[in-house]
Amino acid sequence: MRASFPNRFLWGAAGSAHQTEGNNVASDFWALENRPGGFLPERSGDACDGYHRWREDLDIVRDLGLNAYRFSVEWARIEPVEGAFSRAELAHYRRVIEGCLERGLTPVVTLHHFTSPLWFQREGGWLAPDATERFRRYVRAVLPILDGVQWVCTINEPNMLAMMANMVKREKREENVAGAMPPPDQAVADALLAAHRATREELADIKSGWTVANQNFEAAEGADAECQEWAWSREDQFLDAAADDDFIGVQAYTRVRIGRDGALPVPENARRTLTGWEFYPAALGNAVRHTAKRLPAVPILVTENGIATADDTERVEYTREALAGLHAAITDGADVRGYLHWSLLDNYEWGSWKPTFGLVHVDRATFTRTVKPSARWLGDVARANTLDPPHR
Ligand code: BGC
Repeated sequence: MRASFPNRFLWGAAGSAHQTEGNNVASDFWALENRPGGFLPERSGDACDGYHRWREDLDIVRDLGLNAYRFSVEWARIEPVEGAFSRAELAHYRRVIEGCLERGLTPVVTLHHFTSPLWFQREGGWLAPDATERFRRYVRAVLPILDGVQWVCTINEPNMLAMMANMVKREKREENVAGAMPPPDQAVADALLAAHRATREELADIKSGWTVANQNFEAAEGADAECQEWAWSREDQFLDAAADDDFIGVQAYTRVRIGRDGALPVPENARRTLTGWEFYPAALGNAVRHTAKRLPAVPILVTENGIATADDTERVEYTREALAGLHAAITDGADVRGYLHWSLLDNYEWGSWKPTFGLVHVDRATFTRTVKPSARWLGDVARANTLDPPHR
């Protein structure tokens, strides 16, 4: 029997502003990258020059046969100086939204994808007393350009953001699997929860939710209680907060095993990806099941899933298995509305260009895009809306 996906399923690819656009000079991450003696090995620089080449990128998404595109609008561009909103930047993002609609692509718009304006950071970031108000003011400025958008992600991976707050404090990259990182800074987590609620109030009729980094925590023998506690602070509190949201974004890549003393290292003999994470395509189905169990009434959108690999056949292998797991979860009752692959482009991976997640290769000198076979494969799956598309 053919593994068909639900009707009107969204099939897309994703990226974020800082990772693709280039020269996001007013942002806090740009400052971090460019600080002399900083701990990040590589800079984003021109990134994929997506700021200028977004039309080409949307054409690629459409021509592949996908029907959705996730991207973020950049707060640091829209409000580079506190209170000074750029009409030109808002108009830029409006053109991108219209570009999606004109091509028949459903835009999935993220309002905050890890980066903030540097001024916001300098004024205390999420811990400043008026952080929520500042974010709300930015959301209000963006609201008029969202006409026709039905999927808005308020804050990308608030759990990761709160964990990164702790990591940046320590000035080390440490373990780069989110779930193995230091616990979230709970004050930052609380501020993000407040900002999320405020944003949803502003968005009113627009479908909104946030996207959580699902870590597939697995308890080692005898460590059930430790695992539950570990998962609560790093993941579950962010899921439970979405109980009244219009959707929940699931982002899953790998798993993290928890022992009595915390996260266990990836086993020596495990197959790994370019980020060093365990190759674990079952992560997606498991994450969807976990989310559906915690939030039975909330529709799920897979907002990220993918693999950092230099071997494109491995990308197909991983994604096929991940989608099989997703399909099984849907068959068992999970209400999943779409799948957005991370990422469309080989984009900047927060300090490094080496982990290539893209369906599309980008020449770092000329910015020429080259569609990989995995992208065509995913496009075929999308067109047929089944995991077993007819052969080309
Ligand atoms: C983030 C992306 C990132 C991806 C792979 C997610 O944590 O939302 O920005 O590139 O995972 O690490």
